[in-house]
Amino acid sequence: MSKVIIALDFANKQEVTDFLSNFENEQLFVKVGMELYYQEGPEIVRYIKGLGHKIFLDLKLHDIPNTVESAMRGLAKLGVDMTNVHAAGGIEMMEAAKRGLGDGPQLIAVTQLTSTSEEQMHHDQLIPVSLNESVVHYAQCAQKAGLEGVVCSPLESRMIKDATGDDFITVTPGVRPSTSDAGDQKRVMTPSQAFKNGSSYIVVGRPITRAANPKLAYDEIEEDFK
Ligand code: C5P
Repeated sequence: MSKVIIALDFANKQEVTDFLSNFENEQLFVKVGMELYYQEGPEIVRYIKGLGHKIFLDLKLHDIPNTVESAMRGLAKLGVDMTNVHAAGGIEMMEAAKRGLGDGPQLIAVTQLTSTSEEQMHHDQLIPVSLNESVVHYAQCAQKAGLEGVVCSPLESRMIKDATGDDFITVTPGVRPSTSDAGDQKRVMTPSQAFKNGSSYIVVGRPITRAANPKLAYDEIEEDFK
């Protein structure tokens, strides 16, 4: 199974169908995020699963433990392969999420969003330690709660694996092939750099979804992530 997760940042099912038609007879690992899920609902997950692809449902749950547990029970019934919560919800919430989701799908945590600067973290969250310390602490909390890994920047993978061990997975967006435009991503790594820095999976959107030839772009990224 591919370790390159394609971010399906599309507004509706038709756009998804058009894109996936480039990959007939190939099993992909795709990420469905809030935009698509809140437009199309659970049906979009059933549809993509029906085509035989694996799904990372990126909804970043964060609520009281009981609510998160029930929500996860529902997502498990949809057959998602990977989903996530905010580590800021706490260890008890993450344990409840894991109970609700059950043993099959992988559950990972968001630590500090990569859009959060150290200054914002100090000011808005009143967390006095460094951003790296906060990220590592949240990763360790996720591990304690029985989660399989975290979403993080490829620049943080090595540091997290040093603190949690190699079996704890890191799923990293912010990846750009050397030939492609960084767009709004500020600090990026190429697929091969991300691999060397310890990324277990990479999440890639526009370099594939907006490529003139998406299949070719995907194959090149797969080849480079080694
Ligand atoms: O198009 P691009 O490759 O930048 O898409 C990356 C995907 O990963 C998008 O779905 C984006 O929302 C998501 N993401 C990210 N950075 C984070 C967390 C998620 O780019 N820190």
